[in-house]
Amino acid sequence: MKGKPAIPPIYLTATYKFDRSNDLIDVVQQHEGYIYSRWDNPSVQEVENAVAALEGCERGVGFASGMAAITTAVMSQAKAGDRVVAMQEIYGGTYELFHDILPGYHVETTLINCWKTDELMAEIDKGLSVLYLETPTNPLLRVVDIKPLADAAHKKGAVVIMDNTFASPINQHPVDLGVDIVVHSATKYLGGHHDITAGIACSNKIYAERMWNYRKVMGGIMDPMSAFLTMRGLRTLELRIQRQNESAERIAEFLDTHEKIRTTYYPGLPSHPDHAIANRQMSGFGGMLSFEIDGDFEQTKCFMDKLKTISLATSLGGVTSLANQPITNTHVALSPENRAKAGVSESLVRLSVGVEPVDTLIEDLETALNAV
Ligand SMILES: Cc1ncc(COP(=O)(O)O)c(C=O)c1O
Repeated sequence: MKGKPAIPPIYLTATYKFDRSNDLIDVVQQHEGYIYSRWDNPSVQEVENAVAALEGCERGVGFASGMAAITTAVMSQAKAGDRVVAMQEIYGGTYELFHDILPGYHVETTLINCWKTDELMAEIDKGLSVLYLETPTNPLLRVVDIKPLADAAHKKGAVVIMDNTFASPINQHPVDLGVDIVVHSATKYLGGHHDITAGIACSNKIYAERMWNYRKVMGGIMDPMSAFLTMRGLRTLELRIQRQNESAERIAEFLDTHEKIRTTYYPGLPSHPDHAIANRQMSGFGGMLSFEIDGDFEQTKCFMDKLKTISLATSLGGVTSLANQPITNTHVALSPENRAKAGVSESLVRLSVGVEPVDTLIEDLETALNAV
């Protein structure tokens, strides 16, 4: 064929054929090449290599969702009798894994408020197998100082796993701060278009080999179509993130001085409690922010209903802006007491800033605020 495809094709194949039995035996024994798409697939490997390079890791392992990446990463490291210490302010699905599922497998889990650094350190000092972090947090964008926690965990011989979904590899490099396994919901910024569900975990070759083995058995590999679309998203990742960083910063400044806004949570604002840590550990403050309307639940719902450019939807990290009221969806399962502890009030709104013109987004917010 003269002329090659500029973009690699999607390898929609479940299996691979061989000319000689010895070739098949080589693949099975040496794990190089392809035999069955639950083990490996060229489209998935392209994404794995690209994200591993972005994260500064030796290898990536692609999954069917962020949760498949997280559960496989954690379960490949924590066995019966082990202890996992995690921050309490982690993604809801991850919280369920630690709170509801792992104890059933005799893995002890301890969840601590991320802003109580002394308590977190004390729990790490008691000994652990896995330290699990996620920063910035959802929905209040708290920023955890990764390096001292990772160093303390390593002193106890633990593996440090971190969810880098909110920041993306453009804004934050966890491995430079001591993290061993970085996980992502590729559904969010990596894919970037709200059209796939996918996940990835990156690490050195040893941890990756273990995750690969678990993935082979648990069966949660990324599908080739999602891999193709993630790859397409990655080609514009840096551009999108730069734009989303800039727009989110402008929107946070606009909201911060607005009379109908009680509080704005954005790590780029000097008033944010973790601004100094974010400044040190992130190269951009990200496209996520949240704010409290100066009103009650009904007034906040009224604000949400008036948004036009910004869609009322859960999820984040794509080219179109999305807003939600955490109390009605992501945090609906929390008791009022736990919600209060997590700082999730009835007037809190979370915003994922897309790539639309920022003036259009500010106008949309202004119009909806005027209606409150
Ligand atoms: C920070 C974070 N981690 C993990 C996940 C889970 O990802 P997925 O929905 O792709 O399984 C999400 C989903 O919203 C998330 O926000």
